[in-house]
Amino acid sequence: MGKAQKEKAAESSPQWRVREKESTLPSNNAPGGSASGAPPPASPVVPAAAAPKGPGAVWKSNGSFIPPGCDVEDGDDDAPVRNYEASVAKGFWVPPRLRGRNESLIEAVNDWHFAMLNDSHRNQFYWDAMEPFVKGKRVIDIGAGSGLLSLMAAKLGAESVLAIEASKDMVALAQLNITRNDQSDVIRIIHDMSSNVKLKEEEKADVIISETLGALMLGEGTLDYMADARKRLAKPGARVIPAGGAQFAMLIASPSLAQVSSVQSDCCKGFDLSAIGSLQDTGNIFFTKQWGFRLNLLPDLVEMSERIQFLEVDFQKSDRQHIPSTKTFRLTALKEGVIHAVVASWEVWSDEERTHKITTHPEDTRGAPWGFSRDMQWGQGLQLVEDFDLACKSERNTPPAPFEVAVSRLFQEQC
Ligand SMILES: C[S@@+](CC[C@H](N)C(=O)[O-])C[C@H]1O[C@@H](n2cnc3c(N)ncnc32)[C@H](O)[C@@H]1O
Repeated sequence: MGKAQKEKAAESSPQWRVREKESTLPSNNAPGGSASGAPPPASPVVPAAAAPKGPGAVWKSNGSFIPPGCDVEDGDDDAPVRNYEASVAKGFWVPPRLRGRNESLIEAVNDWHFAMLNDSHRNQFYWDAMEPFVKGKRVIDIGAGSGLLSLMAAKLGAESVLAIEASKDMVALAQLNITRNDQSDVIRIIHDMSSNVKLKEEEKADVIISETLGALMLGEGTLDYMADARKRLAKPGARVIPAGGAQFAMLIASPSLAQVSSVQSDCCKGFDLSAIGSLQDTGNIFFTKQWGFRLNLLPDLVEMSERIQFLEVDFQKSDRQHIPSTKTFRLTALKEGVIHAVVASWEVWSDEERTHKITTHPEDTRGAPWGFSRDMQWGQGLQLVEDFDLACKSERNTPPAPFEVAVSRLFQEQC
């Protein structure tokens, strides 16, 4: 990462700990799509607050995602990486085991990596997805992290596994994991971005595995890095795991959500504070994790529309130019009332039939033993909405007008 990018990353270090944080790119300019239904154009897309995963992650000006804790040297003007101790307030204790570690990495690991490892359903998904394909094969693991997926592939009989990881500390710890699990003969781990790795023809992979999915499915650059790996690091027709995925959106109402995201008329001893509501952000996408709640625990959430799929990706074939810059959908309101937000969630599958999958839909994580971990590592995207027509006419200090909908005649007749 170049000096300017590192400085930019340090500048935008978040006050809150979310898996995805502010992009260094302008809004709607990096891959991932917006919950309001506008996925990436040729120059890609993640809404500003939706871009990279986790603390320290950035999108480079060329559109590529740099994961948090990445300390791969480009060999040009690399600035020193900030150590953990520099992030701790003066006079506070610094655990000796954290001294000298990359601060962004520590932040990211504590923010979502532990939760991710404890998402046992996710882990099982990858195990089952790999089982039929890796025996006797050359496997490449893009974004190896702790080495978990590489270890699985080795245990499932892969001939060799090349694990690629952007964080130096993580690579050292993954190497320990590999040694302790007796897989050093099969797994080789390298510290680099996958996009920098070069392989000889005979080293190319039969199977690519990667879990670099964001709260928005493509929010961590997975599409770009998978496409690059397919073209340069794998044999033609190599199996890609996961095979594909889709991003969904649904309109919801929730007075509880409105209470934490707008000025309520009865909030403050009868004073009119509605002017403050003019600052409500309906332009950026937020994340449930950022607000600190699980969507499926909102007591009054009402589904106001069907869930629609607005983006589909074939990880075996797609790259960013296959993704249209805009799409328009017509939705029928299921109920009368005010729509407060659009919820963004995704599904990723490993088979053509799409029967073997993981999702971030709130109803799927509710009550599951691994559900809390899933919601705390990914959760869902939330885009607040207002009445768009009125927004265009309203005055600067006026709060957004609620987006009210009536039940369609057609629906009433069907009922
Ligand atoms: C979400 S974690 C997944 C870790 C592990 N594969 C697992 O499933 O438990 C993603 C990891 O990939 C790394 N990463 C993301 N994109 C990468 C890339 N293009 N090249 C190398 N490392 C990458 C990040 O540093 C992070 O450690």
